[in-house]
Amino acid sequence: MSGRPLLNRRLDGLGTTIFAEMSALALATGAINLGQGFPDTDGPEAIREAAVRALRDGRGNQYPPGMGVPELRTAIVDHQRRFYGLTFDPDTEVLVTAGATEAIAAAMLALLEPGDEVIAFEPFYDSYAASIAMAGGVRVPLTLRAPDFRPDLDALRAAVTPRTRLLLLNSPHNPTGMVLTSDELTAIAELAVERDLLVVTDEVYEHLVFDGEHTPLISLPGMRDRTVSISSAGKTFSFTGWKVGWVTASAPLVAAVRTSKQFLTYVASGPFQYAIAEALRLPDDYYTAFRDDLQTKRDLLADGLTAAGFEVYRPQGTYFITTDIAALGEKDALAFCRALPARCGVVAVPNSVFYDDPDAGRTQVRFAFCKKDDVLQEASGRLQQLAS
Ligand SMILES: Cc1ncc(COP(=O)(O)O)c(C=O)c1O
Repeated sequence: MSGRPLLNRRLDGLGTTIFAEMSALALATGAINLGQGFPDTDGPEAIREAAVRALRDGRGNQYPPGMGVPELRTAIVDHQRRFYGLTFDPDTEVLVTAGATEAIAAAMLALLEPGDEVIAFEPFYDSYAASIAMAGGVRVPLTLRAPDFRPDLDALRAAVTPRTRLLLLNSPHNPTGMVLTSDELTAIAELAVERDLLVVTDEVYEHLVFDGEHTPLISLPGMRDRTVSISSAGKTFSFTGWKVGWVTASAPLVAAVRTSKQFLTYVASGPFQYAIAEALRLPDDYYTAFRDDLQTKRDLLADGLTAAGFEVYRPQGTYFITTDIAALGEKDALAFCRALPARCGVVAVPNSVFYDDPDAGRTQVRFAFCKKDDVLQEASGRLQQLAS
């Protein structure tokens, strides 16, 4: 074999995701895993039953339609109307994907030419860097800074160049919990229109906003035809393993994203698509109770982390809390997280790996609170050892 590296240059440095490393550590040590963002309780029983029924009735066991089953596309359209007053055509403006992850990758592969610049908030959700890289794009970070992680809109404006093709936005934002305000959304929309940019919005935490509210950028003036709006069932219904996600956008944008998506998975999650169609039609009570429950968990863990000596940035949304460990006399989040399971039996993830600028997040650590109350209490108790 030649001395040429096996992994191509585009993916060089992306390595194993931090979630895999930390979840393996949790398994190996028996520590409580507050690293990876998956709930430890499955979603509604009725929705699980709907999946079983679909399987038994032979719905979705063979390749579903490339755009997604009509029941789900219609349910997505109705969801967008119910919560945001938005109208989409289920036949041309909705695309079902293998989670939001595939939708993001397909959007980058469809919309970018090699060398195109993509502006994204850092810390980034880790698939963004990979998706942009696989498409040959160049990521341009816009750093969100503690304590409130608001985007610097002047810096955003200054980051746009003639090579900028799109903005890849995430609100509610993982890992910081920042939720864009209506003034920020307006400024971003005006910039996108002025500079003729596309915008891809990752809205997977749309139903987990505790302070403020979620407004899809696509609802703002001038954005309907330049926004690819992405969401997923994993977080909202606590079925992250089902990998049912979707795109809502204008017909030409959906057609573009579908072109790359069809050669990634073609389709996925057949029977689960029918179940998620039912989930999306759950009454408002479900959504309210889900959010209230997570808000209680946020407060429980935030108080525990504060008592343990962390500086806590209470999130406006998502199910993550970003903390700073400098207050504990620590200097390096990655080293801290690697040692934490042995020190006190808890796993967290270092935010530093989500930044291009390693100094910006050097002492930030993220904890997930989508866990049972007694698990959060136990983890908080264990973390108190750090304070002593
Ligand atoms: C911001 C963000 N986007 C996308 C995803 C992935 O969504 P899915 O599981 O639907 O692919 C996650 C999961 O953690 C996330 O936090």
